Amino acid sequence: MNAIELLKQDHEKVKKLLEDISDTTERAVKKRAELLNTIATELEMHTTLEEEIFYPAFKKAGSREELQMFHEAKEEHRAVEALVLPDLLNTDPGTVEFAGRLKVMKELLEHHIEEEEQEMFKNAKKLMSKQELDELGKQMEERKQELMKSAV
Ligand SMILES: [Fe+2]
Ligand SMILES: [Fe+2]
Repeated sequence: MNAIELLKQDHEKVKKLLEDISDTTERAVKKRAELLNTIATELEMHTTLEEEIFYPAFKKAGSREELQMFHEAKEEHRAVEALVLPDLLNTDPGTVEFAGRLKVMKELLEHHIEEEEQEMFKNAKKLMSKQELDELGKQMEERKQELMKSAV
């Protein structure tokens, strides 16, 4: 898998998990908590791969426009990881408040994914060679294996 295929596969997985958790009600306390934990683990691995491997290569390959995209994407990661997700993890899944906070996180992530795929990945395909995207994919695959081991 090349870098873009790998990241898109993660996106599909997270989007599906967000749909599943959005279909739950405050009665499904245990299921909500489990799904949220899975989402948190998946997001942490995915953003680590992007920030350690993909984003720096993208920034290096590009110029001013890519630098701007890089900073915007990093801020969106930070908003989710430092604010929205920790809040949600501290919210009782048995409340309606949880659903409200979840909706905000879902919208943020869907927007972020859309921008990565429609803007960043599109530019990356133009700026990076097939070999480079393959090589980055391989690096991320390996790093992901390591991260999965430490997440267990
Ligand atoms: Fe991202
Ligand atoms: Fe992403």
